[in-house]
Formats: sequence, C-alpha cells, structure tokens
Amino acid sequence: MALEKTLTIIKPDAVAANNIGNIVALIEAAGLRVIAAKMLHMSNKHTEVLYEEHKERPFYASLAGYMTSGPVLIMVLEGENAVSTLRNIMGATIPKDAEIGSIRNLYAEHEQKDGALENAIHGSDSSASAQREIDFFFKADEICPRTR
Ligand code: RTP
Ligand code: MG
Repeated sequence: MALEKTLTIIKPDAVAANNIGNIVALIEAAGLRVIAAKMLHMSNKHTEVLYEEHKERPFYASLAGYMTSGPVLIMVLEGENAVSTLRNIMGATIPKDAEIGSIRNLYAEHEQKDGALENAIHGSDSSASAQREIDFFFKADEICPRTR
C-alpha cells in the first residue's frame, strides 16, 4: 500500500443541501485525512482546468453551469491508496447507479433534472490527475502535513 494524495470537491448541490459534514464524516471513516481545505465559488476558468478532458464533450456546458452555480469545498486528502479509496466511497457517476451507502447514493439526487448530472462529489481519477489538480487549486504552503 502506498501513501498517496488526492483532491476532492464537495460540489454545489451537496454544499447547498448542507451535506459537507456528512460527506467529510464518510471520508474520515475511510481512513483519509484532510490536509488542506478551501471554500471557493468556481469560475468557468476553474471548471475548464479541472475538467479539461471533458471540454469537447456535449455535456460540458451543463457541467460548467453546474460547477459554477454555487460555492464548493475543495480538499486535499492523504492516506493509503487515497485515489482509489476515495473513488470507492464516492460511488458510480450516475447517482441512481451508485453503490448503496456510497456518498453519491446517500447525498446526490437520484431523480436528475434536465441538464447537468449533479452528483455531490468530485475525486481525482489517478495519482497524476491528483497532482495536477492539487497544484492548480493549492499553493504549497496551504497544504498541512499531519504532524500528529
Ligand atoms: P468527477 O470527475 O466529478 O469525479 O466525476 P466522474 O469521474 O465520476 O465522472 P466523469 O466522467 O469524469 O464526469 C465528470 C462530471 O461531469 C458530469 N457529467 N455529466 N450529462 C452527462 O452525461 C454527464 N456525464 C458526466 C458529472 O457531474 C460528472 O461527475
Ligand atoms: Mg472524473
């Protein structure tokens, strides 16, 4: 097992529903530690950098509208196999398909409106993506390695 970092974003729907604490509780229960956090109202530029791999997709405009619709909480997490640990507790992208007890199963709407797929949480999809996303959202001195 490898000590790894990942980036997570509690998305605007979950912040609006006051589920920050519930989601962080599941993250901590999975053994991941928060080592940086900031609240931000994302801009279109932030969305473009975060989701650069989706820029040409037909859903990109609705995704950008969703991610800029309200404030988000962005965190750096550290732990054993942090990338896959987080992805496992997030659940599948489409909330109604997300595993029972996963964050998207519990804290995203299963009945989606037209437009963006609102699913409560983002998690980096690889260690390389995590490093790129962490470097984009945080300065080195905003990351607080645990000393106890
Ligand atoms: P994320 O990057 O946010 O952790 O989500 P993910 O890996 O599970 O899914 P991904 O394929 O990377 O898609 C990024 C986000 O775009 C929205 N989406 N909408 N309308 C659609 O078909 C569609 N597909 C994806 C979702 O908000 C998804 O989390
Ligand atoms: Mg993704």
